[in-house]
Order: sequence, then C-alpha cells, then structure tokens
Amino acid sequence: MLDLGLTGKTALVAGCGSGIGQACVRAMAEAGARVACFDVDEAAAAAAVTAAHDLGVEAIALVGDARVRSEVQRVVDEAAAAFDGIDVLVDVIGLAFWGRSIDLDESVWDDSFDAVLRHFFHLSSVVGRRMVEQDRGGAMVAIASVSGMRSAPLHGPYGAAKAGIIGLVATLAMELAASGIRVNAVSPGAVLTPRVAEMLRGPRLAQSAESIPLGRLADPVDIAKAVTFLASDLGAYVTGQNLVVDGGASQQFSLSTRA
Ligand SMILES: NC(=O)c1ccc[n+]([C@@H]2O[C@H](COP(=O)([O-])OP(=O)(O)OC[C@H]3O[C@@H](n4cnc5c(N)ncnc54)[C@H](O)[C@@H]3O)[C@@H](O)[C@H]2O)c1
Repeated sequence: MLDLGLTGKTALVAGCGSGIGQACVRAMAEAGARVACFDVDEAAAAAAVTAAHDLGVEAIALVGDARVRSEVQRVVDEAAAAFDGIDVLVDVIGLAFWGRSIDLDESVWDDSFDAVLRHFFHLSSVVGRRMVEQDRGGAMVAIASVSGMRSAPLHGPYGAAKAGIIGLVATLAMELAASGIRVNAVSPGAVLTPRVAEMLRGPRLAQSAESIPLGRLADPVDIAKAVTFLASDLGAYVTGQNLVVDGGASQQFSLSTRA
C-alpha cells in the first residue's frame, strides 16, 4: 500500500465546517493525521472533531475569524501547542458574492477579498513562519477555483480574489521551497456542496451536470482526494501548482466542435 506519510502528522483545516472542509477533515483523519479543526462556526468545528474522532485520530476544535490576523495567530499557536507543531495547512475558506461587476458596490470588493484571500495571507504567513522554525518541512494547500483562472460571470470580485490565491501560492512556493515547505492550490469547478445543491434545485442540477465532460458535479470527496495528494508524500515533488479538479469543464473550448 502507498504510504501517504501523514500518520502522526498534524493538519490544520481552516473552514472545516463546509462540505469540502468536512471532506478534507475526513481525508486527513483517514490518512492518520491529527486534525486541528478551525472554523468561525463553533458547532461546525465541534462536528468536524467528532468526525475525526470517529475515524480514530486526535482532533481539536479551534474557533475564530480567519480574516483577523490576531485570531489566526491565536488559533495556530493553540493547534501547535496541542499537537507539537503543524505539518499541513489546508485552507478551504471562501465565499462568493453575486452580481454584475459593474453594478457591485466597493464594499462587495472588500468583502470578497476578505472572504477569499485575506485569510490565506494570514494563515500562510503565520503557519509558514512556524513551519520554518520547526525545520521539518510541511505542506500547504489552498482551495482556489476555476473562477480564478477563467472568467467569473456574476462573481467577478470572487474570481479576482481566487486568482490572487493562485498567485500567492506560486510566490509562497518559491519563497519556502528551500525550507522543504510545499505550497499548492486546488481549483474545483462546480462541487455539490449543500450551498450549491440549494442554488441548483430542480432541473438546473441535471443541466449543470450535462455541461460537464465527466457528466456530473464534483463530490466534496473528489476535492479532498486532490488535497490529500498535494498534502501527502504522494505530492512530495510538487510545489507551486494549481491542480484543476473540474471534470474537464475548463478544457471544453476547442476549434473543432467534434471530439
Ligand atoms: N462549492 C463549489 O462549487 C466550489 C467551487 C469552487 C471553489 N469552491 C471553494 O471551495 C471552498 C469551500 O466551499 P464551500 O461551498 O464548501 O464553502 P462553505 O461556505 O460551505 O464553507 C466554508 C466554511 O468556512 C467557514 N468560514 C467562513 N468564513 C470563515 C472565517 N472568516 N473564519 C473561519 N472560518 C470561516 C464557514 O463557517 C464554513 O464552515 C471555498 O473556498 C469555495 O470558494 C467551491
């Protein structure tokens, strides 16, 4: 069996309460990692801890607002103290605000960059400094989006901020490579999380699935598998990359319409 190299390591999952975050907590726990479950929602963090315990690993709940540097510092210090450092950061936090870019208020721009990008700057800085001090390498994985690589109609600031994630990942990867710290992004297409299921009620779900080459939306587990690859020894020689997990959706344009 392949050794993922995560047994006994510590993974901090930020945004652990969502569909994708929950799947990442389970994936880290299944790989044998201790999981520090960070969310602004206390009940969601507690539920993630229960899920990790059920899989037989240690876990703690950490509650705070990742947009605030001092809260991130406190949470990272608590996680590191509880579990003898941090080996893996998975940052899942992100939220889209909707509307035509030309109609949106400046406040939506600020809120989007707070909800999508600011927390990753904080988390990667605070965790990155700790990983450098620990001197035992590490891995960071941020959830970006195909909306950060292509157009993002009706969620322009979100797409711009996700492009920022991809850019920051590339820079961090170069800055931290000499310390053995790998930094990568995963860019999902449409993922069937509770939020998306709510948006695509009725026939829209089947229509969306049909528009994707692999014929379905992603399950959150599909995203967690890609995260696990990058966070584990399977991705030991991969850094600075943006792994697209979209069922082929972003490759559809072709000069020939027949495959
Ligand atoms: N669902 C999709 O189709 C899709 C597609 C592409 C990318 N993504 C990205 O995947 C990630 C997860 O998406 P989702 O739909 O599961 O998200 P979600 O909104 O369901 O969950 C996000 C989690 O982060 C937590 N959170 C939000 N703000 C926080 C903060 N400031 N501090 C701490 N915790 C906070 C929430 O409480 C929640 O548990 C996001 O980054 C999203 O942009 C999702």
